[in-house]
Amino acid sequence: MLLDPRNLLSKAFFYRWFQGLIGREEPWKRFVEGLDILPGQRVLDIGCGPASILAQLPNDIEYFGLDHNPNYIEEAQAKYGSRGTFIVRSISAELAKEFGQFDTILAIGVLHHLDDAGAEALLAAASKVLKPDGKLVSFDGVFFDGQNPIAKFLLYLDRGRFVRTSDAYENLAKRNFPKVKSRFIHDLLAVPYSHFVMECKLRE
Ligand SMILES: C[S@@+](CC[C@H](N)C(=O)[O-])C[C@H]1O[C@@H](n2cnc3c(N)ncnc32)[C@H](O)[C@@H]1O
Repeated sequence: MLLDPRNLLSKAFFYRWFQGLIGREEPWKRFVEGLDILPGQRVLDIGCGPASILAQLPNDIEYFGLDHNPNYIEEAQAKYGSRGTFIVRSISAELAKEFGQFDTILAIGVLHHLDDAGAEALLAAASKVLKPDGKLVSFDGVFFDGQNPIAKFLLYLDRGRFVRTSDAYENLAKRNFPKVKSRFIHDLLAVPYSHFVMECKLRE
C-alpha cells in the first residue's frame, strides 16, 4: 500500500513541525487568550497531542492532558513534564472519581476525528467531569456553503474523517450541554481554512 503522508502527523515531531509551518502565531495567541483560562484553574485537555497549548497557558494551572497516542504523550511529558499530568487514555465519566472535576475542558481538534457516536460519548463523559459553572471548548475544521474551494479541499484531506457543518457540531453538543455559544474563525492558518469553536456550558 502507498504511504499516506498524513500518517507522519501521528508522530509528535512532524505534527509540531506542520503546526509551525501552517499556523499563524498572533491569531492563535488571541484564540488561546480568549479561552480565559485563569491561574489556579483545573484544566482537562482531551486529545491534548503534544500539549503545545501549554506554551500559551498560565504556569499556575492544574493541567491534565489525555491522548490515546502514546507518542504524543511521551513528547508532552518530555517537554512540559513538571507543568501537568499527561496520560495515555480516552475520556470517561470515571475520570472524575480519580481526578475530580474541571473548570475548563478543551477538545481542540478532536471531534472531527470521531463519528457521531464517539463524539457524543466524549461530550457526555466530559459533561460529567465538568464543574457546574465550568465550560468545555471545542475547536474543529468546518464545512459551510460558499466556502473557499481550497479550504474545502484541505478539509477533505484532513486525517479526521468527520469534519462537519456548524449545525452538525452544535446538534451533537446540545445533546449534553444546554448552553452552546459558537463562532467561526477564518484566520488561524496561513492557508484558506475555517474553524468552528463551541463554548459549551451546563448552565448560564
Ligand atoms: C488534531 S490532534 C489535536 C491535538 C491537540 N489538541 C492540538 O491542538 O495540537 C487530535 C488528537 O486527538 C486525539 N484523540 C482523538 N480521539 C481521542 C479520544 N477519544 N481520547 C483521547 N484522545 C483522542 C488524537 O490522538 C490526536 O492527538
